[in-house]
This record gives sequence, C-alpha cells and structure tokens, in this order.
Amino acid sequence: MRLDDIRKKFLKYFKDQKHILVTSSSLIPQNDPTVLLTTAGMQQFKPYFTGERDSMIDFKTRRFASVQKCFRTSDINEVGDLDHLTFFEMLGNFSVGDYFKKEAIGYAWVFLTKEIKLGPERLWATYFNGQGRNSKRAKITSDKESLKFWQKFLPKNRICGFGEEANFWGPPGKTGPCGPCTEIHYDLTKKPCEKGEDCLPNCECGRFVEIWNLVLMQYEKTAEAEFVELPRKNIDTGMGLERLAMVINQKGNVFQTDAFSEIIKSIESDPRFGSTGNIAEDAKRLRIVADHFKGTVFLRADEVRFSNKEQGYILRRIFRRACDQYLHPGMDFQKVFQVIISQLKNAYPELAEKKFEIISDCEKEYLNYEKVRNLNISVLLKQLPAQGILSQIASPEGPSSIRITGQAAFQLFSTYGASIDQLKQKGFSFDEMEFEAEMEKHREVSRAGADSKFGGHGLNSAILTDEDRKKITRLHTATHLLQKALIETLGDSIQQEGSDISPERLRFDFKFPTKLTFAQIAKVETIVNEKIEQDLKVSFEEMAIDEALKSGALAFFKEKYPPKVKVYSIGDYSKEICAGPHVASTKELGYFKILSEKSVSAGIRRIKASLD
Ligand code: ALA
Repeated sequence: MRLDDIRKKFLKYFKDQKHILVTSSSLIPQNDPTVLLTTAGMQQFKPYFTGERDSMIDFKTRRFASVQKCFRTSDINEVGDLDHLTFFEMLGNFSVGDYFKKEAIGYAWVFLTKEIKLGPERLWATYFNGQGRNSKRAKITSDKESLKFWQKFLPKNRICGFGEEANFWGPPGKTGPCGPCTEIHYDLTKKPCEKGEDCLPNCECGRFVEIWNLVLMQYEKTAEAEFVELPRKNIDTGMGLERLAMVINQKGNVFQTDAFSEIIKSIESDPRFGSTGNIAEDAKRLRIVADHFKGTVFLRADEVRFSNKEQGYILRRIFRRACDQYLHPGMDFQKVFQVIISQLKNAYPELAEKKFEIISDCEKEYLNYEKVRNLNISVLLKQLPAQGILSQIASPEGPSSIRITGQAAFQLFSTYGASIDQLKQKGFSFDEMEFEAEMEKHREVSRAGADSKFGGHGLNSAILTDEDRKKITRLHTATHLLQKALIETLGDSIQQEGSDISPERLRFDFKFPTKLTFAQIAKVETIVNEKIEQDLKVSFEEMAIDEALKSGALAFFKEKYPPKVKVYSIGDYSKEICAGPHVASTKELGYFKILSEKSVSAGIRRIKASLD
C-alpha cells in the first residue's frame, strides 16, 4: 500500500466516524512560545484541549483528524538506524471532550485490523500501570479502564502495563495538556529475544515497533510542574505514517517504503556520494541524507531560513550534516530535492509553490558551506588568539589534534559558520559546555521567547535556554556519580568511552563485556540516589595534570588534557578531571533513574538516565 493510499484511508475512516478533517499546520507552531517546532498532531488543537477556545464555536465539532508534518530534533543522532527520523508525518484523530478511551481504542482496532488488515495476532497493547516516581503525578493511578477495553480485542498476555516513562505523554514544551497513554505495538518477528517472557513491547531487541499512541489527555502541566485536571477529557492520537507503511508492506525499515525508496535511489546514483567500501556505513550515510534532505525541503517550505539560531540553526545543521555525507565535492542535491518535491507535492502543495526558493536558498547555503569546508586548518588557527589554543599535537602531515577553548570554537562558528561536527572533523576538540555558554551570551533572541522551547524534545546542540542549561548542569554532576557507582558495582575496569548530555537525559558509554542484570542496574540507581540524598558538596581545585592523575582523579583518556586542569570532587565519593560546570551540592539533583542500558558496539555499553 502506498503512502497516498494510507493517508486517504485514514482520513476517510475518521471522516466516516464524523471527524472533521483538518490540514497539517506549519512546522513552525503559530502562537505557541513553548515549542520551537511542531512535534505532534495535537499542537494545533491545544487551545481546544485546554478550554481556552471552544471547538464547537470555531468548527462546530468536537472530533478532528489530520495528517501532520512533524519535526523532532531529539533523535537527530540516531537517524541512520531502521526507523528513526527527524521529519515524519503523523496520522492523528482527536476528541475534544467528546469520546474517550472506549471509542478511541475501538476505532484504532477497527482501522488497523479491518481497514488496513494488519494481522490481529501481531498486535499488542500497553497501558499506564500507575508507576511514576514523581510525587506530583502519584495521584494519577493505574489505567484499569484501558486494560479492560483492550481485553475485548486482545488476549491478556498481549496487554502490558508500563510506568510513566513509556505510558505518560507530553506536554511538548514545559507546560500544556498531557496524560497517560495506551500504545499499540506491532510484533515483527513473533520471536522473543534472550529475555524470553520479558521480551515485551518497548524491548530494545527490535522485535516490536510502536505504531500508534493514544493519549488520554486529562491533565495540564503548569509552570510549577503541577498536574491539574483539564475541564474535559480529551483524546489525542498519533501514528507514524512511515512506520505504518513499513509494517503494512512488510519492509525491514522505513527507508525501504515509498516514503524513501525513490529518494534513496536518486542519492545513490550521484557518483559524488561515493562509497566507503563498508556496506553498513554507506547505508547509514544514505539514510542520513534522505532524512535530512527531506527535513530541509519541508522546513524551508514553511519559511525557516538558514541562520545560527533557533529553527534556522536546526535547518542549517541538518542540511550541512547531509552535505557531509558526500565523499566528493559538487553533490547534485537539486536532483534529490526534485524527487522529494514531486513525490510529496500532492499531499503538501507548498513544496511545489516554494520549489524555486527552496533550491536557490540551499544552493547559497551549500556554497557558503563549501567555503568553510575548504578552509584549511592553518588559516583557521591564525584567526584564533594565542590563549585560545590550549594544546597542539603534531603529526608528520601537520597538526592532527588541537585543543582549543570553547570561546575560540565559538569564534570559528560565528565567523565562518563552522559547526561543532565540522570543527571536530578538522581535528579541533573543545569543551562543548563552554561553547554553548558563549553561544548563549551572543544570542539575540529575547529571554521571554527563548524560554524552554525545546521542551520534551531537546536539541543536542548549541542552542539552549537557561532552563535547559540548568538541567544539563545537574545531569553533568549526575554523570560523575554514575561513573563512580558503576565502578563500585561492576569493578575498576569500567572506563568511560563517551558522554553526551541533552536537557532531558544523560548518555554514558563505557567498556563492559556483558549486558547489565536488573540487580546491577537497580544497585547503580540506588547508590546514585543515596549519594544525592547525602547532599554531598561539589567543589573543584585547579592543579597540574600530572598531579591530578596522581591524586587518583578519574580521567577520560581519549581526551588530550591541557597542562593545568580542574579536578571536581563530590564529597569524598567521586573525583574527576573535568571542566565543569556542576551544581553546588547533590541535593539539587532530585531523583536519578536509568532509562535504558544497551550495547552500542562490541564490548561497549550505553546507559541513558534522567533526573526527576
Ligand atoms: N501526541 C502523541 C504523540 O505525539 C499522540 O505521540
């Protein structure tokens, strides 16, 4: 079944159920300062959900359905796998105080099994089991009703309860409507992984793909992080079109569906794309280009302009990252754009209307970017003040590793538009927090407008609000506690391989040969939370690198340290070489929890964790 047919079937089905069909809103949300981009179908209906406006007056209905253009920055670094995308289309039906759980579940079941004829034996459902550690949500109890309604369609063993991490949705942004949710997952293989009976929806083994999220929207999250009952009970659903196409057409990944197949072919046929000789690596590069070019076309069609801030920076980042995947200069992006536009112009006429502007803007951006790419490292170095260069390790062909200050990196960014990724590719390394702090100083946007626009979908890059920066600082301190707790639990051989922090979560990679057991994960969590409870003071001392290493401070050995370093101590529990910043004492961290633990490559494990 082609994308066009799926969209039509979805809209027709809900029209027959008396829903009013609404066209997709822009990727730039209108009148909504809480978010930067549209990440879900519900956003254009927010004033109706909160009771601010009455949909009966505006539309004479309480039921809507749409196919919404969405852009999520949260998974930008995961694009390249089987089903992560930045730009995607979301099928959704919405009830503003009209029908609730029973009908929403019934409609979803009939649409999937009767209209598009997915095998019922492949479908599983999840519901909110009441578990949430956030005391403010504690009164939001287990959703026994959804469980009961699902039992009409599914055997008990295919209906699973999960806590707030998987089954509580929203709000996008800091405040707004949200609620527990019930999800439908598709069983791709019907074969459990080594976890046996514990291989359930949300298992990371690849057996399941989440296709539809039904949000039972009953609360509004306030600026004080309180959950207050909404005047009405609403339904907000979202189903990823590309994932649904993958499941219907029994493809191994979203890139093999007609959402991407022609786009991929046109990228591949450009000799300048080239091959690295590594099949997996080439497949990943192709997917990044396909996803990012599609995102570029859609963002620009919605009037986002290339710039160094907010939406414009996201556009710049994805377009340049796509360019980086071509091995030879002079790529033919126009041909790829033509394919994207001709495939999607019926559903989104703005693409054809803006075609000329999209292509000419990208042409200019590409030429600018080529200039940056061609600048050689010695020219860049000359632009930096002597104190901006911390250390330089030479190789016979010239300098190969140059440690610079975050301020100096920002200077290269603001003068030449060189991105973080690109500076790294050229052999520069620097403290990204310092870079971001500098970026913050230079931001031109007003404070008020800038407040927490990333909300639930943080951008892992250089545009952050004050609120986000605080979250990152807390997660940074938590990362130190986590590393020490891992050493305590798993042994001295634990060594940091990488770390990445976004406002929502920390990510920590380390060497360890096997999957962690539940008991080990629980122990690590308990230790970190105990240390937080003990309210340990965080302090630092500056010292020579040799002295720091001798003192037993943990070091990240992939890093080239300058001669003088800061050593951060958390009480007398942890001691690590680090540039900071950190919180003043651990009580500020709140509740620590591990969200996932998995393998990223042979012998390397990855933990994602958050603070409540
Ligand atoms: N708003 C819900 C989501 O984005 C349906 O998953």
